[in-house]
Amino acid sequence: MSDPEARSYPLGPPDRLELDAGYAWLREHEPLARIAMPYGEPAWLVTRYEDVRTVLGDSRFGRAAAATRDPPRMYPEPVPGGITDLDPPEHTRMRRLIGTAFTARRVELLRPRAEGIADELLDRMVCEGPPADLVEAYAVPLPAVIICELLGVPYEDRPTFQTWADAYMTTTAIPLEEKTARLGELGAYFAGLVARRRETPSDDLISALTQARDERDGLSEEELIGFLMTLLAAGYETTAGQIANFAYALVSDPAQLLLVRGGKADVAGAVEELLRHVPVMATGSTFIPRYATEDVELSGGTVRAGEPVFAAFYAANRDPRVYADPERLDLTRPPRPHLAFGHGAHFCAGAALARMELQVALHALLRRLPGLRAAVADEELVWKSGMVVRGPVALPVTWELSM
Ligand code: HEM
Repeated sequence: MSDPEARSYPLGPPDRLELDAGYAWLREHEPLARIAMPYGEPAWLVTRYEDVRTVLGDSRFGRAAAATRDPPRMYPEPVPGGITDLDPPEHTRMRRLIGTAFTARRVELLRPRAEGIADELLDRMVCEGPPADLVEAYAVPLPAVIICELLGVPYEDRPTFQTWADAYMTTTAIPLEEKTARLGELGAYFAGLVARRRETPSDDLISALTQARDERDGLSEEELIGFLMTLLAAGYETTAGQIANFAYALVSDPAQLLLVRGGKADVAGAVEELLRHVPVMATGSTFIPRYATEDVELSGGTVRAGEPVFAAFYAANRDPRVYADPERLDLTRPPRPHLAFGHGAHFCAGAALARMELQVALHALLRRLPGLRAAVADEELVWKSGMVVRGPVALPVTWELSM
């Protein structure tokens, strides 16, 4: 089912942390835009804050229809998404399984551990002296150690599981056959960990989810493995990307860096504004379309029952109807809810964890590395491509040596 009127999507390749200017144009001129991805049927794209909230939060939109349609996608074949493919009540059942593990209260208990890891990583950086690659020395290991400890995945295995987890987050960087093979290996790796926890349970999420599956039969073995894979990959790639991106955004904008370093902007507020402004997804939306279950009126027109719609979170986060001077990064901006973690049933399961990690990461970085700045010219940076998440492959930084 092709549509000659549809614009090709994604709008363009990601350019550093810039949000493609096409989103702002569509938001003003074509708030319900026809788009076509490389494969699958054409879809709608919504870019206004209120429409994005409706598509993500209104029960007249769901995911289940994806199974019977030809989903718009980057690969020739659809790739199963696990929890993101489900609607309530199956979806609610799965979310309940990790229920208390990621609540704000439970996450707060992890803060001292996160601070300890951040300090250890920075000790090593300071000891070895500048310059350092902030991605490998800090942005990746901080959330990776935490999610590994939470799940019960040995962090020493990172050289093994990293390429498999990368495959989970790739859009075009790896051919489909190889992506499928690597995901199979990640699945086999988790099957081994699950088998070991069945023998010897421990105080971690793999044991808790395995026990929940075995005792309440809440989940098939395949769903259990898929869920663990999602938690590992989503649990650190996105946060790691944002730690590096936030550092890049601040060293590229010394006036804003000074605001937070000098205490004029508090770290928690700065993290919220950075979350609003810095698009961690390579595009303005995720690649998880919602399907209308009946005709729905949006600000740009009607979506018919059965049609897929993409919600552009990051275009919504810059909607001038909601935020004053929205294109500007302003760390002193009064708080206003943003959509960087989504909205509705699929609201990010790890939002509280990610927030805490980002606050700890930023706070420790600014405290421990005075005069933080880029160690190479902007043009020398290499950025990820063909991945769900954007960010520099490496971010060489330098700082003042303290006396
Ligand atoms: C800065 C870091 C993060 C950002 C910006 C982020 C963003 C998002 C967004 C936008 C969604 C919704 C996708 C959609 O509705 O199409 C989502 C879902 C999800 N996120 Fe995150 N995320 C982050 C960190 C994490 C972490 C640390 C974890 C795990 C511990 C995690 C686990 C998940 C899961 C499991 C889902 C699917 C939820 C569902 O379908 O019910 N995320 N995330």
